[in-house]
Amino acid sequence: MEEILKIEHLTKSLGAKEILHDISFETYSGEVFGFLGPNGAGKTTLIKVVVGLLTLDHGRITIAGNDLAKQFEGALSNLGAIVENPEFYRYLSGYDNLVQYANMRGGIPKERIDEVVRMVGLENRIKEKVGRYSLGMRQRLGVAQAILHHPRLLVLDEPTNGLDPAGIKDLRDVLKDLAHKEGVAVMVSSHLMSEMEMMCDRVGVIANGTLISVHPIAELVSAAGIGREEFVITLDDAKKGAEVLSEAFGIEILPTEDGAIDLVFPKEEALASIAKANETLVRAGLSLYTVSKKENKRLEDVFIELTGGEGQQIG
Ligand SMILES: Nc1ncnc2c1ncn2[C@@H]1O[C@H](COP(=O)(O)OP(=O)(O)OP(=O)(O)O)[C@@H](O)[C@H]1O
Ligand SMILES: [Mg+2]
Repeated sequence: MEEILKIEHLTKSLGAKEILHDISFETYSGEVFGFLGPNGAGKTTLIKVVVGLLTLDHGRITIAGNDLAKQFEGALSNLGAIVENPEFYRYLSGYDNLVQYANMRGGIPKERIDEVVRMVGLENRIKEKVGRYSLGMRQRLGVAQAILHHPRLLVLDEPTNGLDPAGIKDLRDVLKDLAHKEGVAVMVSSHLMSEMEMMCDRVGVIANGTLISVHPIAELVSAAGIGREEFVITLDDAKKGAEVLSEAFGIEILPTEDGAIDLVFPKEEALASIAKANETLVRAGLSLYTVSKKENKRLEDVFIELTGGEGQQIG
């Protein structure tokens, strides 16, 4: 995968306050990169710096090999963005809005308009007046407009804010397709971990202007215990129970300090495995008292741990 956006040691102050501290990361073509942080973390500020609406104090931003400070036009020609809600002429159709914008930009053939309309799934509604569009449709029209000039990088600040679940899914599918099928580097910000999980390939976690970590989404999901199930068994003789289970499953299982047995199974095998465990224990002549399933940690809890556990309200 090709590196499209590179941020090196970015710092930014607004007034007397340093809003972004020494931020460095890269995003690649073909991935959806999520920028996740609680309210006030600095997401919008960072995105405004990346799209050239604010200047940086220190550091460097490179977009498709163009230094944003020194090769501004080259950088911007590779960038599409939605920062605030995209503005449209409400009395014109979606199509005519795109034509208008394409004419203003120049160098965009008519076929490209049809192509982006298909990409965002608005073929059936594109001739209707924008005034009649739902927020979700306007957001997708915004994406269509932002990618008209074939940018390598598409940046969106909290694009699903205000959308209903169906609107969120439509937009999510559009952005994933742009990354995975068209090879665009997509960067979105959000304060919702659950949304990032469904949309992103990697997530950078930001809190108080500092980038705390960057993870492939699979890593966060496994940290949250999704994909596995954990059971606790209480019984009359945990030591003997652990021995027979170790033998039955071919792995070492030890009793817990409080005289129970903890078992963890991959989710898809969980039911068959716990049935096998029960049967093994009963056959060994042990008395089972309780078998209970442990709740997985919520993704939100993992996020709060990552951002320093300051008890910030997420979502
Ligand atoms: N013009 C400004 N002058 C001074 N401080 C500002 C200015 N704009 C934003 N800030 C501060 O910068 C910090 C980061 O704001 P920013 O809008 O980037 O956060 P955010 O992560 O986008 O939050 P949200 O989830 O609420 O959109 C906040 O503490 C905010 O109060
Ligand atoms: Mg914001």
